[in-house]
Amino acid sequence: MRVVSGIQPTGKPHLGNYLGAIRNYVALQDDAHGVGGECLIFIADLHAISMPHDPATLRASTLELVATLVACGLDPDKAILFNQAQVPQHTELQWLLNGTARMGWLNRMTQWKDKAGKNREGQSVALFTYPVLQAADVLLYQATHVPVGEDQKQHLELARDIAQKFNNDFAPKNPDGSDAPIFTLPDPIIPPEAARIMSLRDGAAKMSKSDPSDMSRINLSDDADTMVQKIKKAKTDPEALPSEEAGLAERPEARNLVGIYAALAGQSVEAVLGEYGGQGFGAFKPALAELLVTNLGPIRDRFVALKDDSEALDAILARGAAKARERGTPTLDSVYRALGLVRH
Ligand code: TRP
Repeated sequence: MRVVSGIQPTGKPHLGNYLGAIRNYVALQDDAHGVGGECLIFIADLHAISMPHDPATLRASTLELVATLVACGLDPDKAILFNQAQVPQHTELQWLLNGTARMGWLNRMTQWKDKAGKNREGQSVALFTYPVLQAADVLLYQATHVPVGEDQKQHLELARDIAQKFNNDFAPKNPDGSDAPIFTLPDPIIPPEAARIMSLRDGAAKMSKSDPSDMSRINLSDDADTMVQKIKKAKTDPEALPSEEAGLAERPEARNLVGIYAALAGQSVEAVLGEYGGQGFGAFKPALAELLVTNLGPIRDRFVALKDDSEALDAILARGAAKARERGTPTLDSVYRALGLVRH
């Protein structure tokens, strides 16, 4: 079992990132560790330059994200934690895979279409080839499991297509004549939909760091009072909570708060409604706030203790990157060889 996933260093991490991605990494780190596998989690800083960015902010966000990941329970002794920029094999493999990826495949990527909009000509080449770098990220390490959000599923399928075509076109033969594939086809792991956390101000929008209102999200760096205030002010409707999940169908804000409660408590939505059905938000919100403070308080304390210790954070990344370079080298060597590229 080899788990590989990347997360972009864009802005303050919030509850949505924690429940949707980071918490899942921590569980997989422990699963992989338990079966003698490995878990590689990296900060996708190279992907971040596909959009206009500010260099000083990128560095700060990268360190902030390492602090967050460690505060949330990723353990640099169990998982390999690093940033792409310190592992040149990612970009090397991307170039080599550019020979296999097809323009038509990339043109069909919905993230490219969404981000480029009507202005394709004005986009960076990096935004277009972004999914090839992502394929390199996972294929380099022979990933078996790749935890991603629903929105990244298509990129994972592309990584599988690239791997398959490369194996077909270039895999060497075993002595018995069978193929000796170079790449493992990775499987996506999509966390349960309960992990889809919406804005506290608008149940139809995802909780996001780019929402101009800070009241729309719970930041992992918020103190207890701030969290309580944000839940108190969260948008709701005047009805009491239903006793059945179906009763949440037309009530996105109510469904979001119940979903957050369920995810944090490790319960099903049905179980939460079994307890709170018939009660109003006046009773439910304080319970939710308390649950948030209990769960996120210790994360916040660890985050605050680490976030300004750039020496410690740099050391974590350097150690992870050294291990990642070692893990990636054999695959990259076979790719060069398979392509007939002469080295040494
Ligand atoms: N593109 C992913 C995102 O925006 C981040 C990412 C980069 C990634 N490389 C990856 C995720 C490799 C999984 C595997 O969320």
